[in-house]
Amino acid sequence: MGMTKRDFLRSVGAVAGVGAAYHTMSALGLLGPAEAQTAAPDFPLGSGYGKHVVILGAGISGMTSAYELSKAGYDCSILEASNRSGGRNLTVRGGDVIREVDSRQWVDFDREDHLYANMGPARIPYHHRAILGYCKEFGVELEVFTNDNRGALFHNTERFGGQSVVGRQVMTDLRGYIAELLAKAVNRNALDDELTGDDKERVLAMLTSFGGLDPDHLYIGSNRGGYQGEQIHTGLAPGDVNDPLDFGELLNSDFWQYKLHFSQFLNQNPTLFQPVGGMDAIPKAFQARVGHLIHFGSIVEEIRKTPRGVRIVYRDQRRNATEAVEADFAICTIPAPVLKDIPSDFASETQAAIASIEFVPAVKIGFQTRRRFWEEDHAIYGGISWTDQDITQIWYPAYGYHRQKGVIMGAYIWDDRPGQGLRYSQMTPPERLKAAMAEGAHMHPGYADEIESGVSRAWPKVPFQKGGWPENYQAPAALQQPDGAIYFAGDQATALPGWQEGAVLAAHAAVNAIHARVTAS
Ligand code: PHE
Repeated sequence: MGMTKRDFLRSVGAVAGVGAAYHTMSALGLLGPAEAQTAAPDFPLGSGYGKHVVILGAGISGMTSAYELSKAGYDCSILEASNRSGGRNLTVRGGDVIREVDSRQWVDFDREDHLYANMGPARIPYHHRAILGYCKEFGVELEVFTNDNRGALFHNTERFGGQSVVGRQVMTDLRGYIAELLAKAVNRNALDDELTGDDKERVLAMLTSFGGLDPDHLYIGSNRGGYQGEQIHTGLAPGDVNDPLDFGELLNSDFWQYKLHFSQFLNQNPTLFQPVGGMDAIPKAFQARVGHLIHFGSIVEEIRKTPRGVRIVYRDQRRNATEAVEADFAICTIPAPVLKDIPSDFASETQAAIASIEFVPAVKIGFQTRRRFWEEDHAIYGGISWTDQDITQIWYPAYGYHRQKGVIMGAYIWDDRPGQGLRYSQMTPPERLKAAMAEGAHMHPGYADEIESGVSRAWPKVPFQKGGWPENYQAPAALQQPDGAIYFAGDQATALPGWQEGAVLAAHAAVNAIHARVTAS
């Protein structure tokens, strides 16, 4: 009697445990992409001896792969096109030089610990357990990153006379108006099909508390939004509550489109973290463990399949020579906009999947200021001010409070619907700074006079990256399975594009799949 696949798996499971059955299943190709193992690998010591894995890219995903595989005894080498590790994880400090395809910028920040800018990833939500796990394992010190600040500003060019309004008032007033509307509907019996008599009382009580309504269930303003005048508090007497913002202006502004509920998004929920001293503490910690495996300045020119595995042809810029490396497996983390143009033996579905991934033309601009005017003049400590102008947002540092100077993000463009990402990318670096200063001045009068120097990063123009992160939330299936002996990783192979967590989970999936294949053979 022949053995069915299920009988076989059952016997594997009985003898070797569920883990072995799982590895066998995935080696047999029985697990779909969604079930690919993203759990942190924990392979027996030495189980990878004699197997060589070449990893393309020394970003978070490539270094995670190398770290986990080498712990199990795999022989790993990492080809990194640039001269640094970290990929899109980039922190800049005074004295750094950063390059784009057609420009170079010298970072002119003062050399002090709190004067740096995270030009790539800058926040880690509490539930990104895999990247936080490495922070813990490597002793990367964390502090809280402030995403949501009620004291920061909302700005719309067309509304409120083009004046910024403060977050606490926008939130309080819109909430109050919504509660009032709903209370009216309840009081006019419009919701009687949904609510019993008891429910109605409870809903009205809830709305009164939720929205800060008066006893007649009307919203007439609330001290939650602050008091009139510059001082926020008047001191000995409570002062007059701010008049509510005009409901029509609030509705016609873009604030509610996502900015107002930004921290409701799962990946933007408090608590969020940042490494103390710069996000690059993470790649530095990885590099301390796998740096000896990295070949810098090695630009991949061909990705080939061989009967035994893979053959990677690369340009070694340091030796000015073309080299080739053969290995049992490859893990490819090269971003799709770059990968699509590298000659390869990929199957046509794989090539089509790679070519289908569009990257967001993200741009960030960091400004060093002569004083922390947001703290001194507005009591803004960290967080984000939003605008409908191209710069999209201004981020205030959640570090270095009350020091003399600071570095703010004067722009973080992450959406290209009206073309602003490419518009800023196409400017020269000095033009970008000028444009961002002019836009920021609509939110902070006298802005340009506060700024001492700036630096920009237009990710579409960054060599070996060519973009910020994939636009689509779900990676194509073809990138979640190997093409021959070539596995894909990087955030682009996950449902978490634009997050280091995605980079780590993709690395875990690739490493687990390779290990399953090695142990099953
Ligand atoms: N993680 C990045 C951020 O928080 C980029 C990103 C933005 C990714 C929005 C997905 C969605 O800004």
